[in-house]
Amino acid sequence: MDLTLPLPSDDASRTPSSGREPARSGRVLTSVRPAERVAGGLVRPLPAHLPVLSPTPVDGTGRAHGKAILIGEHAVVYGAAAIALPVPSVEAIAQVELLPAGSPGSLTSRLHTGPLATVPAELMPVAAAVHAAAIEVGLDPDRLHVRIDSEVPIGRGMGSSAAVAAAVVAAVADAAGRTLSPEVRHELIQESERVAHGNPSGLDARTVVADAPVRFLRRRPQGAVPVGAPVSFVIADSGVSASTAVAVATVRARREAAPAVIDGVIEELGALVDPVADALATGEAAALGAGMTRAHHLLREIGVSSPVLDDLVEAALGVGAAGAKLTGSGGGGCVLALARTPGSAGALAAALRAAGAPRTWTMTLPKTPDLLGGDA
Ligand code: PMV
Repeated sequence: MDLTLPLPSDDASRTPSSGREPARSGRVLTSVRPAERVAGGLVRPLPAHLPVLSPTPVDGTGRAHGKAILIGEHAVVYGAAAIALPVPSVEAIAQVELLPAGSPGSLTSRLHTGPLATVPAELMPVAAAVHAAAIEVGLDPDRLHVRIDSEVPIGRGMGSSAAVAAAVVAAVADAAGRTLSPEVRHELIQESERVAHGNPSGLDARTVVADAPVRFLRRRPQGAVPVGAPVSFVIADSGVSASTAVAVATVRARREAAPAVIDGVIEELGALVDPVADALATGEAAALGAGMTRAHHLLREIGVSSPVLDDLVEAALGVGAAGAKLTGSGGGGCVLALARTPGSAGALAAALRAAGAPRTWTMTLPKTPDLLGGDA
């Protein structure tokens, strides 16, 4: 099993890492250095750059991470498959303290500190996650103090709301000494996601707690996608917030105006999923990258790219990336670039920042047996 401890995420100030532990929850162990115990007795420090978190022991801790779509966005809306990647280097962490009777439930976060009952609209999904999880595990939501801090960027298609919800659900369950089944946990995250997005596909809720790439078909997870050799990706922030609803509506409108053209492109996008999965399974970076770049061009044809995203894709390819594409709904958000080798990911990230990306994150997907380690 890989014992790598989590590193802070932004490439600009930090070192890329790979093969990180999947998100797990556990109790804080030490008062010397804030940390939590995870399976196997390992100790992971709480990231110092998430300042909202309590440095002293709490009753429950939960972690989840970001996600990126490797292939299939938009086509998945029309019945095609899609593959989403966990981004474990970008974490959301929640902590729960059990309050004495009579205390009002409260929240501490970067956006709001105060009673849970009066959170601002953007934190209603968090309140929903606290409430749903507390009821599920038999705790009184009015007697919880919840802290949340997240490094998953908001509005960039990286699953911020689902990651926070998943961390909250895990922390509440941990405070009750309960382990939730994957399906119960998923439903609780989805309750929060429905408040955030109305009709979430479930792709984010599944991938923010996954420790391997996940294949989806018609909103259902089809299982983990094997990784045949370590592959390193750089995620580059365009600096522009994107609305999934607007992008999905754009494609729908274009499809109504020119059904044959758009259906043809969507079909071609869907047809890339199997070759991309095969390339991931065999560890062929060139074939994987070619599929990603082709997907970018098709996504541009259906109108969801932007000049900023196109420029970042060109910058990545210009310095020898194996492939690059927008990831998620488009219009803004992020670009996902595949390094030709894990050793070249740092230079690729630097090139993307030089091309204007305000932030980049580098991650290496380990070969599947390494990822599963001793638990396989
Ligand atoms: O919300 P994002 O940026 O991760 O993109 C969602 C993916 C879409 O295919 C565009 C929409 C969907 O519901 O699958």
